[in-house]
Amino acid sequence: MKLKPITDDNRKECLDLKPHAYQEKFVAPNSDSLKKAEKEPSSKPYGIYSHEEMVGFALFDEEPYPDDGYFWIIRFMVDGRFQKMGYGRAALGEIIRMIRSKQSNAKIRISHVPDNSVVNKLYKEFGFVETGEIIHGETVLDLIVES
Ligand SMILES: CC(C)(COP(=O)(O)OP(=O)(O)OC[C@H]1O[C@@H](n2cnc3c(N)ncnc32)[C@H](O)[C@@H]1OP(=O)(O)O)[C@@H](O)C(=O)NCCC(=O)NCCS
Repeated sequence: MKLKPITDDNRKECLDLKPHAYQEKFVAPNSDSLKKAEKEPSSKPYGIYSHEEMVGFALFDEEPYPDDGYFWIIRFMVDGRFQKMGYGRAALGEIIRMIRSKQSNAKIRISHVPDNSVVNKLYKEFGFVETGEIIHGETVLDLIVES
């Protein structure tokens, strides 16, 4: 697995990826995420790759989000055809590594629809803890590295 930036060359491949129908309430379509990426200069969109094939997508901050100082992992998905093969876990580990390489004591923040128990478990595996906050109806988790 590796992450590669979304560019004009792989944008269409990214737009074609989608989760299973029952998961559509968990994540916005990638078309929406790419529009959001253009509006949020702190974040950058990446394809999650298996060899030369894009299997998923992530949008995350590469500098602290100006309003709150957190590095947000804003969108994260693996296409339904490629789920449960380890790409999500590998990609999340790589995203955290990339953010820490920008700022070693980065405060990383992520949120999910409350009943998305699969990602709740996955995020906690990496040390994320629920803050108790609900933002835009979503459960918020933080991963804070002590400096
Ligand atoms: C969450 C998501 C990215 C995980 O991707 P993935 O590539 O399937 O994840 P992995 O294969 O690395 O699996 C990670 C763990 O989740 C579990 N898992 C994944 N999908 C699951 C499912 N549908 N039901 C139960 N467990 C599931 C895996 O079994 C694995 O746990 P294990 O090793 O203890 O068995 C993917 O399910 C997805 O895109 N979901 C829809 C969008 C979404 O919810 N995004 C998060 C928005 S906050």
